[in-house]
Amino acid sequence: MSSLANKVVLISGASSGIGEALAWELARLGCHLILWARREDILKNITNNLSKEFPEQKFVFSKCDVTQTEALPTLLTQDLQKLNKALDIVIVNAGVGGNTSGWASDFEITKKIFLTNLVGATALVEACLPLFIKQGYGHVVGISSIASVRGLPQNSAYCGSKAGFSTYLESLRLDLLTQGITVTAIHPGFIATPMTEDNGTMLFLMSAERAAKLISKAIIKKKARYSFPLPMAFAEWFLRVMPHGLFDFALGLLRKRIQVFREKR
Ligand SMILES: NC(=O)c1ccc[n+]([C@@H]2O[C@H](COP(=O)([O-])OP(=O)(O)OC[C@H]3O[C@@H](n4cnc5c(N)ncnc54)[C@H](OP(=O)(O)O)[C@@H]3O)[C@@H](O)[C@H]2O)c1
Repeated sequence: MSSLANKVVLISGASSGIGEALAWELARLGCHLILWARREDILKNITNNLSKEFPEQKFVFSKCDVTQTEALPTLLTQDLQKLNKALDIVIVNAGVGGNTSGWASDFEITKKIFLTNLVGATALVEACLPLFIKQGYGHVVGISSIASVRGLPQNSAYCGSKAGFSTYLESLRLDLLTQGITVTAIHPGFIATPMTEDNGTMLFLMSAERAAKLISKAIIKKKARYSFPLPMAFAEWFLRVMPHGLFDFALGLLRKRIQVFREKR
């Protein structure tokens, strides 16, 4: 029996991609699930299928926009009441991508990315924290990105939002070390999901199902940070220590390749 059996897990952004794959993987490991996203019809379908496949476990869903931050604590209380259980793990996964080029900026895109990936993400963490602190246990899992490590070309908002989220999680982890609460930052490389389907060539692309298995193992091991796949974890480390001059040169070349790719489409 998995150590996650009978745990209650809330997943935001469970209607597609990594979040949906995590729902299936965690259900296989015996978890009860609360699934959140904006597309209610899709969540209903996923929940029905999970209930058929795993009749012993409980699954609930709610339509939720994480940018509506004031609504999150009430929604959480309502869903926990439906399950009549305490929350063990929150997986803060809901996120949006989007290109933001410095020479043609569009603040509406930048705002949406920050509101979802940083404001919405931290609001969900902080909706759960009072419960975790009161009960003396809990696990916060944030789906950040390898893109959090440096500012990549045409991705100022995405990289900025993920850098903010990872740094937030790290600080939180130190604060909560003595409270019985675990904090894990997940840094995936390229995962095949609706978010990346128009990306063109992606190095070491991994399926969402495989990513969900690896993320579940990192949750079981209560890792502080988990970057994957391995070659991208190495790239992350290298990017982190790369001097600015070398970074600007290497990423300048990458930016030119991206431009050529976009012009060809
Ligand atoms: N794919 C990758 O290569 C990759 C790499 C590193 C990190 N990540 C991160 O992984 C997470 C999942 O992304 P994905 O690749 O699985 O993309 P995805 O398939 O597009 O899934 C994104 C999920 O977030 C939900 N969502 C978006 N905005 C929301 C909002 N305002 N409120 C509530 N839910 C919202 C979407 O559901 P609704 O539209 O139904 O609301 C969807 O379920 C994101 O945080 C992403 O940044 C992805």
